[in-house]
Amino acid sequence: MSSDLGQGVCAYINRRGQVIRVGVGTPRQTQIPPLELPRYGAERLCGIRCIATQLKADPPKESSLTAMVLQRLDTLVMLSVTSEGKMRRGGGATGYVKEAYIAHLLPASEFNPNHNYYWTVSPSMTLETLSEQDFLGLVEGLEAEFRREYVAQQVEGDHERVVIVGLQTEKMSDRTFAEELAEVERLVETAGGETVETIQQKRSHPHPQTVVGKGKVEEVALRVQTLGANLVVFSIDLSPAQVRNLETQLGVKVVDRTEVILDIFAQRAQSRAGKLQVELAQLEYMLPRLVGRGQAMSRLGGGIGTRGPGETKLETERRGIQRRISRLQQEVNKLQSHRSRLRQQRQKQEVPTIAIVGYTNAGKSTLINALTNAEVYTADQLFATLDPTTRRLSGIDSDTQQLYTFLLTDTVGFIHELPPSLVDAFRATLEEVTEADALLHLVDLSHPAWQHHIQSVMTILQEMPLVPGPILLVFNKIDTVDGETLRVAQEEYPLAVFISASQRLGLETLRSKLGQLVEYALNNSRL
Ligand code: GTP
Repeated sequence: MSSDLGQGVCAYINRRGQVIRVGVGTPRQTQIPPLELPRYGAERLCGIRCIATQLKADPPKESSLTAMVLQRLDTLVMLSVTSEGKMRRGGGATGYVKEAYIAHLLPASEFNPNHNYYWTVSPSMTLETLSEQDFLGLVEGLEAEFRREYVAQQVEGDHERVVIVGLQTEKMSDRTFAEELAEVERLVETAGGETVETIQQKRSHPHPQTVVGKGKVEEVALRVQTLGANLVVFSIDLSPAQVRNLETQLGVKVVDRTEVILDIFAQRAQSRAGKLQVELAQLEYMLPRLVGRGQAMSRLGGGIGTRGPGETKLETERRGIQRRISRLQQEVNKLQSHRSRLRQQRQKQEVPTIAIVGYTNAGKSTLINALTNAEVYTADQLFATLDPTTRRLSGIDSDTQQLYTFLLTDTVGFIHELPPSLVDAFRATLEEVTEADALLHLVDLSHPAWQHHIQSVMTILQEMPLVPGPILLVFNKIDTVDGETLRVAQEEYPLAVFISASQRLGLETLRSKLGQLVEYALNNSRL
């Protein structure tokens, strides 16, 4: 048929020997769409082999082998047909098989790291030798190896294996992009995932359907298959349609940065208020994305982006979700008014409040613990604290010898481009900031992107309806900072305080500055 048509032909055969699909063209052109593939998973092959013909006497081309990897075909058999054969009596086909090749996937342990080859291709053989091959034996042997590796991975840790895809648009400098990617990696880690690969692309703007270009999507799909990844995280926000397209083409769950942050929040929320706010944020984020995602979601399982109360709600109807959202919104409103009553009481007692704001992981909780005896959970993770803690602090101002007392409130960590749905859901928590008398802006000076962090926090503060007057800038973690960075920061921010919360350095200076800050804030509010 192939030589009659002057084109390659592919037959797809299952393990029972039944032909389930025939197509004219290359293995790449006749590929089975991911959602129609019968089996999935890094621990096995898809149970289908492809027998393809081509009109050249060459080993299979890379595009054909890529198609094999993407579908996790049992094997790809390439038959080189030549039309130099004898004419059959009565006309018809003239071709015969000159040579044959068998290609199959390799277990990870046999990858060649220098070439990034995930497959192996046999030397050319005759049709006769080919027919003597033990296909099932080969496939079973391979699957046993895949299973062993899969189990080993599972034992290593019960977490997602994540491929991160970063898109660098025109507006983004190399440095900003690198920092953003590092942040996404950190978020994935905090959410409990393991980044197995980071893939980047530069484009003037995101591709409307798939964010990155067609070739890049294929590269990602290939890496996902060969590394046994089960989640792809994009560095930029995705539209619901983009998520659908990408999941169809990649065959695994696809989430964006916002969803990872939501997932972390869902894992961290302790108090009823915290949980309430996370659930609201998750539902608001998911509602527009629900259409058509059901099938992919149930195929692709749980993990990052599905935890928290949002998970069970996914299956319920949209209208039910909308009802739940408005109920949650009412509860958050109630929470908000409850908090504001508490604040009013505090204000009546004339105890000034200072809210600590700062980029996530700046050391806010550590500082509260160091200054007071509060037992606030600290961890080297992003967003370790979700629920605000308020502690009373008093001392004697070393300059004026006056006794001062104020309340110190910890807030949810800030982050570059905090998703709007989160800002809204956490308004009850964030209002602690807007209602405070003064702010202590804590910065992790040991972080290479500290200058960006300052900007991000200031941007978010500026978006808030009401920001309290004085802000004291405090640089933390000076115990791990080199002299040059310290000098730059001191020069740029001469009024800032430099401390190490964990090593308890500079805390006395900080206390007295806070005393002054409180006095200043109170005097101002009396005016
Ligand atoms: P979120 O809750 O994520 O917003 O974090 P946070 O700002 O409350 O930070 P947290 O207090 O949890 O501290 C984050 C990490 O920084 C922890 O591992 C702390 O041990 C560490 N850390 C805090 N202060 C210092 C410091 O002065 N020096 C050093 N080297 N590490 C510190």
